[in-house]
Amino acid sequence: MIQKTTKKLVVANWKMHGNLKQNAALLTDFVENLAHLTHTKVVVCAPYPYLGQLQNLLQSTHIAWGAQNVAKNEVGAFTGEVSAAMLRDFGATYVIIGHSERATAYCESDENVATKFVQAKKHGLTPILCVGETLIEREAGVMEMVVSKQLDTIINAHGAAVFADAVISYEPIWAIGTSLAATPEQAKNMHLFIRNKITNLNLDAANRLKILYGGSVTPQNAVQLFLVENINGGLIGKCSLNAQAFESICHAAEAAST
Ligand code: 13P
Repeated sequence: MIQKTTKKLVVANWKMHGNLKQNAALLTDFVENLAHLTHTKVVVCAPYPYLGQLQNLLQSTHIAWGAQNVAKNEVGAFTGEVSAAMLRDFGATYVIIGHSERATAYCESDENVATKFVQAKKHGLTPILCVGETLIEREAGVMEMVVSKQLDTIINAHGAAVFADAVISYEPIWAIGTSLAATPEQAKNMHLFIRNKITNLNLDAANRLKILYGGSVTPQNAVQLFLVENINGGLIGKCSLNAQAFESICHAAEAAST
């Protein structure tokens, strides 16, 4: 019997958007309007230069913050990279790993993603691992095989126990930024597949793992998606840049988990 994690997690992925002024306005609004949530954890993942701003504005609030990438190495001559320890220095507690936009634009391999995942955990960051298939793969009916292979790179190298207290975000690539979210049925099947895969390897890790859905989540479709079994929250792109839209998604998560 799978024990469900009931508290929802809603993560804002700002991608490469924002500036000091816009960020401050959004964060102030989030703090003001999301303070009363008791069943939903809210996290903001911003570009690296704004980690200090997140720390300043969020540190005495209930909202956590994180980055959108992390180096696979500990420390050293790696120009342009930012280590897990540096993220911790700024109070970050989450990091997005393996987003498809990075895999596509920067040729991020599954092996790199696996190393980053473990590096994040080693330093006390909660990794949010993105997995998902392309439209061609879905149309060919191989989406579970694709996601399974993405997870296997981590499992084969580090074991399934690393998923305890981690987050996997199912983000079908065809749904990202397209206004074409997965249907609750499509998401339900994939989330169940992921939960079952980890359950078969390590029940404790499966029980402590949150599985988010990402890809064109909006205030309109959030409630339906968040009510689906095994959807423990969302990873939100575009709508996280609009205070009203993001807050409404967080409220949908709260409603779905109470
Ligand atoms: P959108 O919500 O803009 O589709 O982006 C989803 C995403 O990539 C979150 O990481």
